[in-house]
Amino acid sequence: MNIDDIIDQLGGAAAVQTLLGVGPSAVSNYRLRGAFPEYARVRIWQALKARGIHVNPETLADLDTPPTASGQPASALSHAVGMPQKTPQILLIISGGIAAYKALELIRRMKDQGWAVRVILTKGGAQFITPLSVSALSGDKTYTDLFSLTDEAEMGHIRLARDADLVVIAPASANMMARISHGMADDLASTAVLATGAPILIAPAMNPFMWANPATQANTAILKSRGISFVGPDSGDMACGEDGAGRLADPMAIIAAAERMLPGQGKLQGKQVLVTSGPTHEPIDGVRYIANRSSGKQGHAIAAALAREGAKVTLVSGPVTEPPPPSVQVVAVTTAQDMLDASLAALPADIAICAAAVADWAVDGAGASKLKKTDGAPPELQFRENPDILATISTHQQRPKLVVGFAAETDDVIAYAKAKRARKGCDWILANDVGQDQPVFGADENEVHLITASGASHWPRMSKHDVAKYLTDAIIKEITHG
Ligand SMILES: Cc1cc2nc3c(=O)[nH]c(=O)nc-3n(C[C@H](O)[C@H](O)[C@H](O)COP(=O)(O)O)c2cc1C
Repeated sequence: MNIDDIIDQLGGAAAVQTLLGVGPSAVSNYRLRGAFPEYARVRIWQALKARGIHVNPETLADLDTPPTASGQPASALSHAVGMPQKTPQILLIISGGIAAYKALELIRRMKDQGWAVRVILTKGGAQFITPLSVSALSGDKTYTDLFSLTDEAEMGHIRLARDADLVVIAPASANMMARISHGMADDLASTAVLATGAPILIAPAMNPFMWANPATQANTAILKSRGISFVGPDSGDMACGEDGAGRLADPMAIIAAAERMLPGQGKLQGKQVLVTSGPTHEPIDGVRYIANRSSGKQGHAIAAALAREGAKVTLVSGPVTEPPPPSVQVVAVTTAQDMLDASLAALPADIAICAAAVADWAVDGAGASKLKKTDGAPPELQFRENPDILATISTHQQRPKLVVGFAAETDDVIAYAKAKRARKGCDWILANDVGQDQPVFGADENEVHLITASGASHWPRMSKHDVAKYLTDAIIKEITHG
């Protein structure tokens, strides 16, 4: 019996809505996914049983389905009714702001998705909504206190953090963002954020002046640089009577962003991606080296954005101070030759993005001993050309389906980038102007041109995280529609 048959047997979509206490969109979602959420299974099994229909309570497969060689009903193995392996476990943190009441609607919509929702309500949050209303909707205890003996015995703060597949902070107050961007652990919510290994989604909500304040903006940049995702804030009329950016994103937009971040949900699921990032260091002797100003911010942001879409990302990074993005395998290298070796070791891959600023030359004969200053003339350095990583990958027998290179030019950006695309044999070039009046190296923003076979498009100046998001969207479009 498939999911449509089950719904028919139970009296149609409206009856299933009543049975599970969900809205019409939830039932449509279950049909689309071909799956009921795990929490609903027992209720459906009981309702079918009451109608004299006997199914496997674990899988909802017909009991008379012929067993397979493994002894399990075939429909159970092939997920004929599509039971997901594990119900997504969301840890929702509600902090103190006027938008906290909207978190109640968010809990309902999360339950509609079939997600299990555990909620931490901060002290500030509890000034706006009660643990009782949260629990009534989440169907679980509401966690509020770090130092609660009973809570620790039942569900320690570390388990609360570690059980989660995704942490959603909505609404996120300015105070909450400030505390977590600085690693504070002075209440249950901030401690759980510090202890979790799960991806984190933040939906800020505050007065427009609080949002625009440089302190909040700096905290946002720190959190983004650590791979934490944001949804909103939206702009419009605020409860405080002011107008501007600071409204909590719509609950359905939060759901959509959360869905993409859940393990196994992204649009690049199953894709293997190689990203290179940062500068290379070419030794002059045992203690000196030649480097460039690349910070790795753009390459790391790209790796993080692709990983958020479920891609398996290997990030081959030169020496940088950027933190490793979550859920990304980082291979740290020093020289261009190391970077090439590590990049080739990461093949085969579906996509390669060469964002690193690789040195064109290495110092010939650089040894381990320090060159000594003498009374004579300064040493003369001899250079040899470094391997060309982008061209090597573009012409490799295991060439990824899509190869993207970067061009940093000071003049005639588009013309040089087009020529580079043809010369290297890559598919796309992201070109940026690194001239004097265009700070790019080390900056948080970038202005780029995407050069493809069909032409050039200009992306105005935006954060490197947004460039990464746009590039990821373009890649998804290319990979899925050809
Ligand atoms: C009526 C009222 C409304 C508030 N609304 C917000 C808000 O929308 N966003 C925000 O960041 N802070 C807001 N605050 C301030 C926070 O509640 C305060 O910073 C609190 O310490 C946040 O605690 P928490 O981050 O631990 O939840 C508001 C305060 C009051 C009294």
